[in-house]
Amino acid sequence: MTIQIDDAGWGDPIGGVLIGIYRVETSEYVVKEIEVTYFQEPNFAEKTFLIRGLELVLEALTCMRVSKDESIQVCRGIVLDGVRDGLKAHGYEVIPTKIEGQLQELVEANLVTSLEKLGLYDVPRVSGKERFFLQLEWIQDDLEHREKFVKTGWKNWSKKLRNWRPKWRQSQQRIHVPPIIIKLGGSIISDKTKRSTARIDTIKQLVKEISSIKSHPIVVVHGGGSFGHFPAKAYEIHRGGRSRKKKVGVTETALEMTNLGNLIHSAFLEFQQPAIPIRSSSIIVSLDGRISHMDLQALQEFLRQGFIPILSGDVAADTVTGFTIVSGDQISMYLARLLNAKKVIFATDVEGLYTADPKEDPRARRFDLITSEILQEVLDEIAVGEASDATDVTEGMRGKLSEIFKGLPKGCEVIITDIRKPGTLKRIIAGKSVPATRLRQS
Ligand code: IPE
Repeated sequence: MTIQIDDAGWGDPIGGVLIGIYRVETSEYVVKEIEVTYFQEPNFAEKTFLIRGLELVLEALTCMRVSKDESIQVCRGIVLDGVRDGLKAHGYEVIPTKIEGQLQELVEANLVTSLEKLGLYDVPRVSGKERFFLQLEWIQDDLEHREKFVKTGWKNWSKKLRNWRPKWRQSQQRIHVPPIIIKLGGSIISDKTKRSTARIDTIKQLVKEISSIKSHPIVVVHGGGSFGHFPAKAYEIHRGGRSRKKKVGVTETALEMTNLGNLIHSAFLEFQQPAIPIRSSSIIVSLDGRISHMDLQALQEFLRQGFIPILSGDVAADTVTGFTIVSGDQISMYLARLLNAKKVIFATDVEGLYTADPKEDPRARRFDLITSEILQEVLDEIAVGEASDATDVTEGMRGKLSEIFKGLPKGCEVIITDIRKPGTLKRIIAGKSVPATRLRQS
């Protein structure tokens, strides 16, 4: 019969090297591991892994009762040099070869399992760049405690890889680059004067810009616009209630938000950007109109894997009033605190916050920087404008400003501007200046 021997893990920075021994005709399979310490100093320099490999293979052959007239195909990898020479010396017929098929899949699968047991996520089944960098990122996430799992004997470990710093990429990982939260205002993604009317082109443009960001994890929160605000206003959902009629209003408002959310969700799909809708009403509980609980477990898991979670202002169960409306602004700031975000971007149809509507009043002046210290002055100065918007249950610009400052963590900056123009969002994230209003705690 034919015995095959293959290895896995030689090129993987984490863990030892697995050796699979397989009898082709019967599919008998034994897997052994040359422990990681053989790939650390002083062992690695002395190449003791060659002897250890041979010891393990001989053990496996004994256990499988391999006889000397079975031919043994051994993979050509360096780590099996000792196995090939040693088996020959023991009188076996050895054929160096390239192993493919069943055995290769089995050993690689075992390797993936051993990496996942350590806590790595979704390890690719084939060795290569993606698997390699996934491991480097995992190590860097807690170098102090994880270096013991590394093949530190590699020359380029101490020279190069040990100091490698992960850049946030759109792949599975557990590194902690703080996310950027982007709130898409309802009045930019919908026509607020016409019920349930989306601005599809704007949505696509915004989603295109967002999808081009690869440097940071992103969370999108969108507003209600002419979808959620109409029924919310008609049924006065923000005031809570117990009646069946009002509950039907909650049902309608939630559906409107789902409908608007689906358009954004579809746009992400169109750009082939992994994104996942997360219903705010399913993860939030509020207390008298203010968020008191937000369950972020699923969101964080998706975020780590490179998805863009899509949330929205929404209806929420309220432990005092029965139900309420939580605005996308409140949600964005709450998320900013929980996720330790350093930037929250409010996408509007003008380049910031003005003393009056710049489209109608040429004397309108933009506030470049608003700190908590001058907030009251600014609130007094802002023209009533959107605050009197008949369809808005969450109070327009003045409400937005107060809401932002209520939840703005120190060290986090809010940028209000128009991000439809190609490249603007990238510039903001790269810390470059763009026409905008910036908000910070003093
Ligand atoms: C309101 O969210 C959500 C509902 C009315 C259900 P926002 O208050 O964030 O919406 P916009 O951005 O002002 O439209």
